[in-house]
Amino acid sequence: MCGIVGYIGHREAWPIVIKGLKRLEYRGYDSAGIALISDEGLKIYKKAGKVTELENFAAGKNLSGTAGIGHTRWATHGAPSDRNSHPHTSNNGKLTIIHNGIIENYATLKEELKTRGHEFKSDTDTEVLVHLIEEIYKNEKIDLLEAVRLALREINGAYAIVLMDEEHPDQLIAARKGSPMVIGVGDGEYFIASDATPIVEYTKNVIYMNDNEIAFIKRDELLIKRLDNVVQTPYVQELELKLEMLEKGGYEHFMLKEIFEQSRSIRDCMRGRIYPNEGKVQLGGIKEYADKLKNIDRIIIVACGTSWHAGLVGEYLIEEYARIPVEVEYASEFRYRNPIITEKDIVIAISQSGETADTMAAIEMAKERGATIFGVCNVVGASIPRLTHAGVYTHAGPEIGVASTKAFTAQVTVLTLMAFYMAQQKGTLTNSKLVELLTELDCIPDKIQVALESNDLIKEIAGKFKDSRNCLFLGRGSGFPVALEGALKLKEISYIHAEGYPAAEMKHGPIALIDEEMPVVVIATKNSSYEKVISNIQEVKARKGIVLAIVTEGDTEVRKMVDYCIEIPDASEAFLPLLATIPLQLLSYHIAVLRGCNVDQPRNLAKSVTVE
Ligand code: F6R
Repeated sequence: MCGIVGYIGHREAWPIVIKGLKRLEYRGYDSAGIALISDEGLKIYKKAGKVTELENFAAGKNLSGTAGIGHTRWATHGAPSDRNSHPHTSNNGKLTIIHNGIIENYATLKEELKTRGHEFKSDTDTEVLVHLIEEIYKNEKIDLLEAVRLALREINGAYAIVLMDEEHPDQLIAARKGSPMVIGVGDGEYFIASDATPIVEYTKNVIYMNDNEIAFIKRDELLIKRLDNVVQTPYVQELELKLEMLEKGGYEHFMLKEIFEQSRSIRDCMRGRIYPNEGKVQLGGIKEYADKLKNIDRIIIVACGTSWHAGLVGEYLIEEYARIPVEVEYASEFRYRNPIITEKDIVIAISQSGETADTMAAIEMAKERGATIFGVCNVVGASIPRLTHAGVYTHAGPEIGVASTKAFTAQVTVLTLMAFYMAQQKGTLTNSKLVELLTELDCIPDKIQVALESNDLIKEIAGKFKDSRNCLFLGRGSGFPVALEGALKLKEISYIHAEGYPAAEMKHGPIALIDEEMPVVVIATKNSSYEKVISNIQEVKARKGIVLAIVTEGDTEVRKMVDYCIEIPDASEAFLPLLATIPLQLLSYHIAVLRGCNVDQPRNLAKSVTVE
């Protein structure tokens, strides 16, 4: 979590840094701060709250300077407050730092620094780091780059940092371990950021820093070395990101834009990967492992949150079509167990951001134990795709709304492709069945477009549900992860308590909650469990629950027994999650808007969970 931005060049830094922070606000919005360096020295502005509050606070003040660093915070150590906001300064006030990550041994270091006369102004771990750098710089009589390098060797934990020195206004020092950092290469200028979104409008040439690297940046000079002092040759690559992808494009919220993009994003995700007429799937990212896939005994999927729900859909699909046993694990639980993992296992790590700390730790553990790791990530060049042996990008494009929508459907699409690819390798599906399935999959983006047409109806239904205090989501088979995802979406953006349950489990507990005030959303499409789900609906109705059913278009049977119905196009069970998720995303979106909630930046959340 936390977003960092830096600039050094010939332009004014403030507008670049503040705009960059707005782009990175998805990473945290507890406080924001910017430090600028000019001939007049170092100036720091920081404020609890969102970036706009910092902007208002700084309006009319002296914001000049052609070097600057900025930070948007998701609080870990120390409450969200002005004094805990970054940047933090050294004891003598000359060094200033921004940091994304956690310094695990900060308490010990802080005590030691206190005995040497350091006084701290905040409760953060970050402030300890800048004091440590100052202490080493002062005592060892070395240059600042070397002092930073030595200080970082004493640190346990994760970091992406940028440091400025009032006495050397022509340089920035950046470093990373476990938290992302991109350097944009301009003409006589450099940009630094947690991801490429603050950089793309100025330059397409970027360098993704690797773990344990430290960069010394001047307007016309860039030196990157490793913490063991070995100088690196930076690899400059061209960004594929386009500016319009980062804008709302006329929608009121990013979340709504992203929901409506799904027809396109799923098509992008499948492009060049499916050949319906030939009944063939091609996944270049994992093709080296095609033989291994023929003989594996087991797949373990690790992920968190929405990505974990996609993993459950993946389990259903891989077991159904490729007949490989699959276990789906919360990365946060898996990493602290002592799981049995062998060299024959394939672990699939799913992550939109490619940065989630628990997922990264789970990967590292599985790797140490000899498993082959595949990544399913959205953010190109993020940490997880670099940690894994192979993988398939989801290509959904930047997802800015904190609640995941198009990334989820793209993850499910990739897992669908993986299931068919594995089935192809293992021969568990005939070619004619693959032709049939892929032909249908190819039409799913059009069907998503049709599902989106229910938006007005869903908005109307949202009005009836907006004051509910609880909500139950029920589904069976591949409809169960959809129910879980529907419940997560509702709770995270509207703050209504919601739970997803396998429909048949309802009578083992949750049925006690049902009364005339309890909305129950049921995935009741025409598939193998249709009749069973109808019985579950009747059980809810018998207890006066209010039922909203997601049904297959043309359904009349369910319509007769429920209070509200939303239709989705007919599709095979394999593709149901892709379609049934759409109305649930829209439902939670409209409920949250009607309740006056901040849809794109729900309270307490951040898009990249880089702490465990
Ligand atoms: C919910 C949501 C989160 C993420 C989770 C994992 O809408 O976005 O539950 O799915 O934090 O994040 P990634 O996929 O980036 O690893």
